[in-house]
Amino acid sequence: MSERIALYPGSFDPMTRGHLDILERACLIFDRVVVAVLENPSKSPLFTTEERVELIRASIDGDGCVEVGTFAGLTVDYARQVGAVAIVRGLRVTSDFENEFQMTLMNRRLNPDIHTVFLMTSFSNVFISSSIIKEVFRLGGTIDDAVPPACAEALRRKYPTDGQR
Ligand code: PNS
Repeated sequence: MSERIALYPGSFDPMTRGHLDILERACLIFDRVVVAVLENPSKSPLFTTEERVELIRASIDGDGCVEVGTFAGLTVDYARQVGAVAIVRGLRVTSDFENEFQMTLMNRRLNPDIHTVFLMTSFSNVFISSSIIKEVFRLGGTIDDAVPPACAEALRRKYPTDGQR
Protein backbone atom coordinates (compact mmCIF):
# COMPACT_ATOMS: atom_id res chain seq x y z
CA MET A 1 0.00 0.00 0.00
CA SER A 2 1.30 3.49 -0.81
CA GLU A 3 2.25 5.95 1.91
CA ARG A 4 -0.41 8.41 3.02
CA ILE A 5 1.23 11.81 3.06
CA ALA A 6 -0.20 15.00 4.55
CA LEU A 7 0.93 18.58 4.09
CA TYR A 8 0.89 20.84 7.15
CA PRO A 9 1.32 24.37 5.73
CA GLY A 10 1.73 27.58 7.67
CA SER A 11 3.77 30.63 8.52
CA PHE A 12 5.37 29.05 11.62
CA ASP A 13 6.80 32.41 12.71
CA PRO A 14 7.86 30.77 14.98
CA MET A 15 6.64 27.24 15.61
CA THR A 16 4.67 26.95 18.88
CA ARG A 17 3.70 24.07 21.15
CA GLY A 18 0.29 24.30 19.51
CA HIS A 19 1.85 23.56 16.10
CA LEU A 20 3.83 20.67 17.60
CA ASP A 21 0.67 19.29 19.16
CA ILE A 22 -1.09 19.28 15.77
CA LEU A 23 1.95 17.73 14.11
CA GLU A 24 2.11 14.89 16.64
CA ARG A 25 -1.58 14.18 16.12
CA ALA A 26 -1.15 14.25 12.31
CA CYS A 27 1.65 11.68 12.62
CA LEU A 28 -0.78 9.30 14.31
CA ILE A 29 -3.01 9.42 11.24
CA PHE A 30 -0.61 9.78 8.31
CA ASP A 31 2.56 7.87 7.38
CA ARG A 32 4.42 11.06 6.61
CA VAL A 33 3.72 14.74 7.30
CA VAL A 34 5.45 17.49 5.36
CA VAL A 35 5.56 20.69 7.38
CA ALA A 36 5.72 23.50 4.84
CA VAL A 37 6.80 27.04 5.64
CA LEU A 38 5.17 29.64 3.42
CA GLU A 39 7.67 32.03 1.89
CA ASN A 40 5.64 35.20 1.94
CA PRO A 41 7.69 38.41 2.12
CA SER A 42 4.49 40.52 2.14
CA LYS A 43 3.75 39.22 5.66
CA SER A 44 7.15 40.56 6.96
CA PRO A 45 7.82 37.65 9.30
CA LEU A 46 10.07 38.04 12.34
CA PHE A 47 12.14 35.01 11.34
CA THR A 48 13.50 34.36 7.85
CA THR A 49 12.27 31.30 5.98
CA GLU A 50 15.59 29.55 6.71
CA GLU A 51 15.34 30.37 10.43
CA ARG A 52 11.77 29.09 10.59
CA VAL A 53 12.78 25.83 8.89
CA GLU A 54 15.71 25.41 11.29
CA LEU A 55 13.48 26.07 14.30
CA ILE A 56 11.00 23.44 13.15
CA ARG A 57 13.84 20.94 12.61
CA ALA A 58 15.19 21.67 16.09
CA SER A 59 11.71 21.31 17.60
CA ILE A 60 10.68 18.00 16.01
CA ASP A 61 13.72 16.25 17.45
CA GLY A 62 14.30 13.88 14.53
CA ASP A 63 10.72 12.56 14.37
CA GLY A 64 10.89 10.14 11.42
CA CYS A 65 7.33 10.91 10.33
CA VAL A 66 8.08 14.58 9.68
CA GLU A 67 9.77 16.35 6.77
CA VAL A 68 10.23 20.10 6.51
CA GLY A 69 9.90 22.08 3.28
CA THR A 70 9.21 25.56 1.98
CA PHE A 71 6.84 26.77 -0.69
CA ALA A 72 5.96 30.02 -2.38
CA GLY A 73 2.87 29.46 -4.53
CA LEU A 74 -0.46 27.79 -3.94
CA THR A 75 -0.70 25.32 -1.09
CA VAL A 76 -2.58 22.81 -3.26
CA ASP A 77 0.20 22.90 -5.86
CA TYR A 78 2.84 22.16 -3.25
CA ALA A 79 0.59 19.44 -1.78
CA ARG A 80 0.42 17.77 -5.20
CA GLN A 81 4.18 18.19 -5.66
CA VAL A 82 4.93 16.27 -2.43
CA GLY A 83 2.25 13.65 -3.12
CA ALA A 84 0.00 14.71 -0.24
CA VAL A 85 -3.59 13.45 -0.11
CA ALA A 86 -4.52 15.90 2.62
CA ILE A 87 -3.80 19.32 4.04
CA VAL A 88 -3.70 19.43 7.84
CA ARG A 89 -4.72 22.56 9.74
CA GLY A 90 -5.15 23.18 13.43
CA LEU A 91 -8.32 24.64 14.91
CA ARG A 92 -8.22 26.39 18.27
CA VAL A 93 -11.10 28.75 18.83
CA THR A 94 -14.24 29.43 16.86
CA SER A 95 -12.76 32.63 15.41
CA ASP A 96 -10.29 30.44 13.45
CA PHE A 97 -13.17 28.78 11.69
CA GLU A 98 -14.28 31.46 9.25
CA ASN A 99 -10.90 31.91 7.59
CA GLU A 100 -10.18 28.18 7.61
CA PHE A 101 -13.57 27.44 6.08
CA GLN A 102 -12.90 29.92 3.28
CA MET A 103 -9.40 28.53 2.61
CA THR A 104 -10.67 24.96 2.62
CA LEU A 105 -13.39 25.64 0.09
CA MET A 106 -11.01 27.57 -2.14
CA ASN A 107 -8.40 24.82 -1.94
CA ARG A 108 -11.06 22.23 -2.75
CA ARG A 109 -12.13 24.28 -5.74
CA LEU A 110 -8.51 24.48 -6.90
CA ASN A 111 -7.93 20.76 -6.40
CA PRO A 112 -10.89 18.56 -5.41
CA ASP A 113 -8.58 15.56 -4.83
CA ILE A 114 -6.86 17.13 -1.82
CA HIS A 115 -8.89 17.12 1.37
CA THR A 116 -8.38 19.39 4.36
CA VAL A 117 -8.29 17.70 7.74
CA PHE A 118 -8.74 19.78 10.89
CA LEU A 119 -7.19 18.70 14.15
CA MET A 120 -7.69 20.30 17.53
CA THR A 121 -4.92 21.08 19.95
CA SER A 122 -5.06 20.05 23.57
CA PHE A 123 -6.88 22.52 25.80
CA SER A 124 -3.61 23.90 27.22
CA ASN A 125 -2.58 25.10 23.75
CA VAL A 126 -5.86 26.68 22.74
CA PHE A 127 -4.73 30.23 23.47
CA ILE A 128 -1.31 29.97 21.82
CA SER A 129 -0.57 31.61 18.49
CA SER A 130 2.73 32.75 16.99
CA SER A 131 1.48 36.36 16.93
CA ILE A 132 0.47 36.43 20.57
CA ILE A 133 3.74 34.75 21.61
CA LYS A 134 5.79 37.43 19.80
CA GLU A 135 3.77 40.23 21.35
CA VAL A 136 3.93 38.82 24.89
CA PHE A 137 7.67 38.16 24.61
CA ARG A 138 8.37 41.60 23.16
CA LEU A 139 6.53 43.17 26.08
CA GLY A 140 8.53 41.19 28.64
CA GLY A 141 6.16 38.27 29.36
CA THR A 142 7.13 34.63 29.81
CA ILE A 143 6.62 32.35 26.82
CA ASP A 144 8.77 29.31 27.69
CA ASP A 145 5.80 27.02 28.27
CA ALA A 146 4.23 28.00 24.93
CA VAL A 147 7.05 27.38 22.45
CA PRO A 148 9.68 24.66 22.00
CA PRO A 149 13.01 25.51 23.72
CA ALA A 150 14.75 26.28 20.40
CA CYS A 151 12.09 28.90 19.59
CA ALA A 152 12.34 30.50 23.04
CA GLU A 153 16.11 30.78 22.54
CA ALA A 154 15.64 32.24 19.07
CA LEU A 155 13.21 34.84 20.41
CA ARG A 156 15.77 35.82 23.07
CA ARG A 157 18.36 36.30 20.33
CA LYS A 158 15.97 38.44 18.27
CA TYR A 159 14.99 40.57 21.23
CA PRO A 160 18.04 40.82 23.52
CA THR A 161 17.11 41.79 27.07
CA ASP A 162 18.84 45.12 26.86
CA GLY A 163 15.76 47.23 27.20
CA GLN A 164 15.18 47.39 23.43
CA ARG A 165 12.28 44.97 23.41
O1 PNS B 1 0.08 29.83 9.61
P1 PNS B 1 -0.88 30.58 8.74
O2 PNS B 1 -0.36 31.98 8.46
O3 PNS B 1 -2.28 30.58 9.28
O4 PNS B 1 -0.93 29.79 7.33
C1 PNS B 1 -1.70 30.27 6.25
C2 PNS B 1 -1.41 29.48 4.96
C3 PNS B 1 0.08 29.46 4.67
C4 PNS B 1 -1.89 28.06 5.12
C5 PNS B 1 -2.20 30.17 3.80
O5 PNS B 1 -1.92 31.53 3.81
C6 PNS B 1 -1.88 29.59 2.44
O6 PNS B 1 -2.27 28.48 2.12
N1 PNS B 1 -1.13 30.37 1.62
C7 PNS B 1 -0.64 29.94 0.33
C8 PNS B 1 -1.39 30.62 -0.80
C9 PNS B 1 -2.64 29.86 -1.17
O7 PNS B 1 -2.62 28.69 -1.47
N2 PNS B 1 -3.79 30.57 -1.15
C10 PNS B 1 -5.06 29.98 -1.50
C11 PNS B 1 -5.68 29.26 -0.34
S1 PNS B 1 -6.88 30.29 0.33
